[in-house]
Amino acid sequence: MDRTIGTMMNNTYKQMRIIINIFIFLLLPFILHAEDGHNLWLRARETAPVEVICSKKSPTLRIAEQELVQGWQGKPNEKIELIVKNDKSLKNDGFRLTTNTIQANTDRGILYGVFELLRRQQTGQPIYEQVCNPSYERRILNHWDNLDGTIERGYAGRSIFWRKGADAFVVTETDKQLWQEYARANASIGINGTVLNNVNASPSILTADYLKRTKAIADVLRPYGITTYLSINFASPQVIGEVKTADPLNPDVVNWWEKKVKEIYDLIPDFGGFLVKANSEGQPGPQDFGRSHAQGANMLADALSPFGGIVMWRAFVYNPSDEDRAKQAYSEFMPLDGQFRDNVVIQVKNGPIDFQPREPFSPLFGAMKKTAVMPELQITQEYLGQSVHLVFLATMWEEFLKSDTYRSGKGSTVAYCTDGSIFPQKHTAIAGVANIGSDVNWCGHPFAQANWYAFGRLAWNNSLSSGQIADEWVKQTFGGESDNAEDSKPILFADWQVNFLQPVKQMMLNSREAAVNYMMPLGLHHIFAANHHYGPGPWWAPEGVRKDWTPPYYHQADTNGIGFDRTATGSNAASQYHEPLRSLFSDPKTCPDIYLLWFHHLSWNYIMKSGRTLWNEMCYRYDKGVQQVREFQKTWDEVKPYVDEERFVHVQSKLREQAINAQVWKDACLLYFQQFSKLPIPYDIERPVNELGDMVRKDRDRKNQ
Ligand code: GCU
Repeated sequence: MDRTIGTMMNNTYKQMRIIINIFIFLLLPFILHAEDGHNLWLRARETAPVEVICSKKSPTLRIAEQELVQGWQGKPNEKIELIVKNDKSLKNDGFRLTTNTIQANTDRGILYGVFELLRRQQTGQPIYEQVCNPSYERRILNHWDNLDGTIERGYAGRSIFWRKGADAFVVTETDKQLWQEYARANASIGINGTVLNNVNASPSILTADYLKRTKAIADVLRPYGITTYLSINFASPQVIGEVKTADPLNPDVVNWWEKKVKEIYDLIPDFGGFLVKANSEGQPGPQDFGRSHAQGANMLADALSPFGGIVMWRAFVYNPSDEDRAKQAYSEFMPLDGQFRDNVVIQVKNGPIDFQPREPFSPLFGAMKKTAVMPELQITQEYLGQSVHLVFLATMWEEFLKSDTYRSGKGSTVAYCTDGSIFPQKHTAIAGVANIGSDVNWCGHPFAQANWYAFGRLAWNNSLSSGQIADEWVKQTFGGESDNAEDSKPILFADWQVNFLQPVKQMMLNSREAAVNYMMPLGLHHIFAANHHYGPGPWWAPEGVRKDWTPPYYHQADTNGIGFDRTATGSNAASQYHEPLRSLFSDPKTCPDIYLLWFHHLSWNYIMKSGRTLWNEMCYRYDKGVQQVREFQKTWDEVKPYVDEERFVHVQSKLREQAINAQVWKDACLLYFQQFSKLPIPYDIERPVNELGDMVRKDRDRKNQ
């Protein structure tokens, strides 16, 4: 065994190796196979033999070796050495890559290194000596899975973890197989944690049967480097314990949690900790007993601390008060900055309201300087067309992570404010609400898999570009295979790149902006039909419903204009941002168009930067969104020769539905707002094809069902 082989290679030889690797990938003929999408971006490929040398043994290293052997696409009979040894330049999950070695401090680091090496081979990226460390210590999926097997905001079947019925607690071989496939997919993109149940948590999750099942799941996930966490219900000691209260300062409550935590660690020694939604949307919390979020979180943190566990305490809180909902999380949490234990991380949604198609970043990022803060993203497309619309979310997350908060001078991006670069945090983390279910392709829409992939990749490296992520995903998910049934000639990579990769990538990169255009352009937000959050419902405001749950609260349309005034003359939410953003957002002349109606109520005839009136601009944006989806349809139909029939037809049919829905969004919003603007839709724009009355009636009938 020659440990120095990697460093001894001269440059010419290294370059040749890179070229050979890329060449092998490029020349792979494209062969037809029907695909159901179950293999995600990890599809079986033609491989070459490889010799793997590893002096240590462990379940994780065995997986690493297997992956190399099953996936090697480099030079045949190459020798690869896996080396676990301490290196100060590496973080726990980090690794050092050379053409012939992967070195890491931990077995987990080796596994990530292996997946990185294979990804580079498959996507034709160069392999050279490099240190790769993750941006966040904890990269976590949040499953909103209920214990009866349903999934809150899930659009891809039922839970892969929980079910009801006689076999609810039976762990079958099929269960284990699925959990293992799930773990492997996560490991391949660097995800290292998972919360198994809904944030609207049933207290039953902490009862013996559920904890036993949690242990069974954790045992399957562990070798893949996945740490298991649970969402808890703050009232648990009262509901499933014998305790009369859940007051976090009551000694019986403290005692109950300490015992419960010990019981969990006896079963799962590497348990990660708790995720908590408290005093939010009807969930119990410390405020029910006159205590603060900090007192509640710290009580749990103290119970978990001896075992190394953490608390992820959510800042998604808002009351039916007069205060603008967009301001409430900041108002509630900022006064508590500095009061949380160091094993508490405040989990903050990317925007101040709720996973809308577009929001400015939450002003809490960078503002809490003495408290660990982690971003929460939503992978499941609750507000972005669910599993029907093709919307690639990486562009949205990139926009968010690169937003400058100015909290510590220019360049204090959300990414740097949360990954430990600016503020020292004991723990850094990022969470994504999963879009995974029991559907054969896991995510419902073949392209929704790209959002799971993108979350993992950005959690590992928060400076990756959406373009690179899309490129990798398309190559791994569609590359090397083709429905070339008509003439069954091999298709070479060069053709594939021009005729499939480029247009499909472009479609993905445009898709989020298209959704914003046909749903809520120019900073409009939360004008969804009630409850299901799928179609439009700008009209929905029945008597007696909380105002902040109705669209008119958010769009504020009247004969004078449209938009939510969040400047000093309105709710002054703009003041929660650091200068220069505060001033920039407060003046409609400097406020970016994308946030205009988020911060301002403007007249229908307000002249935009484009020179158009606000009303006309809105009409053009809605229309553009519809046209963009029509273009996606053309793009997809044209790439047919390069995709297997099964996935081609599936995506084609989803795009048809998306086009119909986009038209409904445009028609509903323009015809509804036109009642206030009383202005014509510009005549060079396609006319609405749906009647407003019909759309309102359908929406009402559905709710009355
Ligand atoms: C949204 C979503 C709820 C979810 C909540 C949360 O409001 O619609 O289903 O429970 O977010 O994040 O807690």
